[in-house]
Amino acid sequence: MVVEPKVRDFICTTAHPIGCRENVKQQIAYTKKLGTVDGPKKVLVIGSSTGYGLASRITAAYGCQAATLGVMFERAASGKRTATAGWYNNLAFEQQAQQDGLYAKTINGDAFSQEVKDQIIQIIRQDLGQVDMVVYSLAAPRRTMADGTVYRSVLKTVGEEFKNKNLDLKNRQVTEACIPPASEEEIEATVKVMGGEDWMDWMKALAEAGVLASNSITVAYSYIGPALTHPIYYNGTIGMAKKHLYQTSIDITEQLRDLGVKAYISVNKALVTQASAAIPVVPLYITILYKVMKEKGLHEGCIEQMNRLFREKLGKGNAVVDSDNQIRLDDYEMKPEIQQEVMKYWDEISSETIDQMADVDGYWEDFYHMFGFQIDGVDYTQDVEL
Ligand code: NAI
Repeated sequence: MVVEPKVRDFICTTAHPIGCRENVKQQIAYTKKLGTVDGPKKVLVIGSSTGYGLASRITAAYGCQAATLGVMFERAASGKRTATAGWYNNLAFEQQAQQDGLYAKTINGDAFSQEVKDQIIQIIRQDLGQVDMVVYSLAAPRRTMADGTVYRSVLKTVGEEFKNKNLDLKNRQVTEACIPPASEEEIEATVKVMGGEDWMDWMKALAEAGVLASNSITVAYSYIGPALTHPIYYNGTIGMAKKHLYQTSIDITEQLRDLGVKAYISVNKALVTQASAAIPVVPLYITILYKVMKEKGLHEGCIEQMNRLFREKLGKGNAVVDSDNQIRLDDYEMKPEIQQEVMKYWDEISSETIDQMADVDGYWEDFYHMFGFQIDGVDYTQDVEL
């Protein structure tokens, strides 16, 4: 079957198996080119199939020669329906890793469930003994509890309504977004889904089962960003969840002190991923940011960010952190000279000037790449096996 992109709202409902494989290959090649580095040897990545989690896994495997275990929530192909991009990415990663003599296994299931936690513990016991690093890189829209209760995360403000510029990506028009404030229940639900409760559950379950090595590290990903996005991000519902995640990093370190576990938050750069495309206001900010960072030669994607995390920030025993004990991979994004330029464009930008002041093409390029489309060297006219 010839597979074409079918874009609906913030997602593409098809994915290209060969393109996704190529995408994974390029990330592996980038990592290999940087050489190997001392680091964790047995790594569990929760949310391992796309975005930051996939890049973390590739870096651990090809940068540190680590055995990797992944957890993802992806859909296989059925009939004429393609699999999700994450499913193809994972297949490509596992095949390549096995060819290269690197241990790689993945569970496709709900990371929030006890069942998946038990399965992972079983595999670690059987195959690896213990893990020395846990990456928590979930971006989930909902969480189902053991009793069947479902919490759904929302992207809203907290307190007041927020109006600001927004990008209609399809029509390349600058419009206005008006984001309503969330109710108490919505805030609570978002914290349940994207906060740290499940991260803590994972760490406790692993520690209690004896499959977490002493002095191991765990890292979860967060975002802060400039004041302009604070109402929708940092001070919005997702930000409330991220504050909970941050507090959880402190709690994990405290509660697993006897085992010498260190938990960190890594504050990453804003990037086009399946999770970030759905946030209002943020895509316009990202297109301007891409433009400015590319001009200054400071642009990075997930794989560049994660290589910097493993090679420069994790350190031996003690990570390189700011005064709040957070790893800052948003250091380039937040440089004053970058932010000043972004803010200047933000104030001036309109539908007429969008192409001079923002990198909309770069946004779409990343967007299509996520689903395995528009990748150099892939012949999209060919029939492919789904
Ligand atoms: P993504 O959407 O690319 O990846 C999410 C991963 O979670 C996928 O592997 C998916 O299969 C998995 N997943 C989702 N629900 C699951 C479930 N119930 N059970 C098991 N696996 C599940 O997202 P992205 O952007 O890589 O986000 C990862 C983390 O990084 C998030 O915490 C996000 O807030 C954070 N982050 C993202 C930034 C961005 O600009 N994209 C910036 C800074 C932080």
